[in-house]
Amino acid sequence: MKILILPTVEAVTKHAARRLARQLKRKPHSVLGLATGGTMDRLYAALPAMVAEEGAQIEQMRSFNLDEYVGLSGDHPQSYRHYMATRFGVPLGVDLARMALPCGDAPDPAAEAARYEAAIAEAGGIDLQLLGIGQNGHIGFNEPTSSLRSRTRIKTLTRSTVAANARYFDRPEDVPTRAITMGIATILDAREVLLLATGAAKAEALAAAIEGPLAAASPASALQLHPKATVLCDEDAAAALR
Ligand code: F6R
Repeated sequence: MKILILPTVEAVTKHAARRLARQLKRKPHSVLGLATGGTMDRLYAALPAMVAEEGAQIEQMRSFNLDEYVGLSGDHPQSYRHYMATRFGVPLGVDLARMALPCGDAPDPAAEAARYEAAIAEAGGIDLQLLGIGQNGHIGFNEPTSSLRSRTRIKTLTRSTVAANARYFDRPEDVPTRAITMGIATILDAREVLLLATGAAKAEALAAAIEGPLAAASPASALQLHPKATVLCDEDAAAALR
């Protein structure tokens, strides 16, 4: 695992945006694995300028998102499909049909998870997978105790994750408690992985992922098994590293 500690969140954001733009410049048909959340918000906001600066082409990429809430339709303002359309697809001019996410309102969520896993394989796999990290060490919505061999499936979110997500919903009872998420083995299949972590709240989870044992209690520690994983973090998130 390669660890790159930069001084600030801004530096992390800029570095990641450049990395993504260069991936698209080198391989315009890249299949990207994308994430949502506050960390990705900053990255996606920086991307249009960086794509222009690097002279990258973004129209031909395809993407698969890590996860989607079970029970939310794609036009729900808090669905990840809506997030990706407004933060990534529309500002960058990417045809939304090229951006895949699990369907949160599929009548049979388990079948939808299996279909999604197969669709990633049919696309030839993921070239570059972006990841954030939860305060409990989750990647995607692979909460602690997720099997290291897991594939795309339904996961019940932990209380701490539901609480962290509550900031996006009007009422606590509206926060979804289940998601369809790529599994840990699905994530490890990506040819390259880039995990971003910023802020002191991520310090303990990051230290466990990088320096702790490979353990289901720290899903992100599975990246220790990946031959081409980079962790990009700011000094606050790196504070608990030895
Ligand atoms: C969301 C996802 C999550 C987030 C993680 C960090 O698609 O996969 O694993 O990356 O919860 O979220 P933020 O960046 O909001 O702290």
